[in-house]
Amino acid sequence: MIPKLQPPARLGADLKSQWLLDERIAFLNHGSFGATPRCVLEEQAGWRARIEAEPVEMLSRRGRELLTAAKREVGTWLGMREHDFGFVTNATEGINTVLRSLSFKPGDELLTTSHVYNAVRQAMKYVASRSGATYREIDVPLPIRSPQQIVQTVLDAISAQTRLLVIDHVTSPTALVFPANQIAEACAARGVDVLIDGAHAPGMLPLDVPSMNAAYYAGNLHKWACAPKGTGFLWVRPDKQRDIHPLVISHHLGEGFDAEFSWQGTRDLATWLAVPCALRFMSELGWDRVMAHNHAMAAWAQMFLCDRWGVEPISPADGSMLGSMATVRLPGRLREMADEQAKSLQPRLYAEHRVEAPFMVWGGQAFVRPCCQVYNVPDDFHRLAEAILELGRA
Ligand SMILES: Cc1ncc(COP(=O)(O)O)c(C=O)c1O
Repeated sequence: MIPKLQPPARLGADLKSQWLLDERIAFLNHGSFGATPRCVLEEQAGWRARIEAEPVEMLSRRGRELLTAAKREVGTWLGMREHDFGFVTNATEGINTVLRSLSFKPGDELLTTSHVYNAVRQAMKYVASRSGATYREIDVPLPIRSPQQIVQTVLDAISAQTRLLVIDHVTSPTALVFPANQIAEACAARGVDVLIDGAHAPGMLPLDVPSMNAAYYAGNLHKWACAPKGTGFLWVRPDKQRDIHPLVISHHLGEGFDAEFSWQGTRDLATWLAVPCALRFMSELGWDRVMAHNHAMAAWAQMFLCDRWGVEPISPADGSMLGSMATVRLPGRLREMADEQAKSLQPRLYAEHRVEAPFMVWGGQAFVRPCCQVYNVPDDFHRLAEAILELGRA
């Protein structure tokens, strides 16, 4: 029996106008690159202007102090001490930083699941192949009935050779909240280090990074924290910091984790310096309200679309394994589309229906993954539902 969920009440009138998003487009793809509110972009432009007015003062003499102040606010928000994480450009960079800092040898195994983000898959394969280690994906098939099913499947797959497990906090193709915390805790007890790919988690889920039990946690601020693009972070447990170096080695090599990450060559600090403004903007809306709104919208959207398209959900119908996105099977013949055909649906949906939503092909089937941010309204999902049915008829 499918429960009748309701969409949440709006958090405010006309919230979308606080973003630059085109009003005519039903934008259901916050998850790919995020979207940054106007006031945060203005703050970023302000920092850029100050840097351009006094380049040496701002970058050289005051850069570290300014970055530290920005880090302090991120750290306070996510429970991290400011010297235990470094700013990186994005989660991909954070994950590469760990993978390429560690050394593996023939016989070692790098392990992840079939829900891994493809760029992370490529990075893991690359690192494994360079050292003669092996790369393996644990098949976690759909539908997912409970977090416990994932914990068990992953733990059963760990072998004596497993050196590193990369686990998603929120998966990309399937939009599921994985029990990363429980998995990491069980792995720590078995002596297996865990790198959590938290690309989507900050701002989507309540998060205290050190209590996730991982050795490494990479996250993004440009997705669900709505910071400018190019703002990610890498947290490393203190006992592991000595072995982790930024991808770009610069002046401060050997001066410690925090110092090494603080300068990686000349970069546009304005992006990171505007992060506190994004955190303020979202916390004025109320983080609890934002997360509850976006989750309720995702839970409702999952079942609304399943109902309209006559498909089964890939995870519990109450939305208990979702954050603020839902991956839904496409209806009818669209579901069986090959990768290239399915990919062509996304630009058609945009061009013909003015709906932006990401399409995924996973396990040989095609899905759509609408994302829910505070500016979304139920009508965005109604438009998606009807547009997909029309594409299926065409
Ligand atoms: C699970 C996951 N990991 C990593 C990334 C990469 O994020 P970025 O492009 O910001 O590095 C994404 C992007 O969507 C993702 O969904």
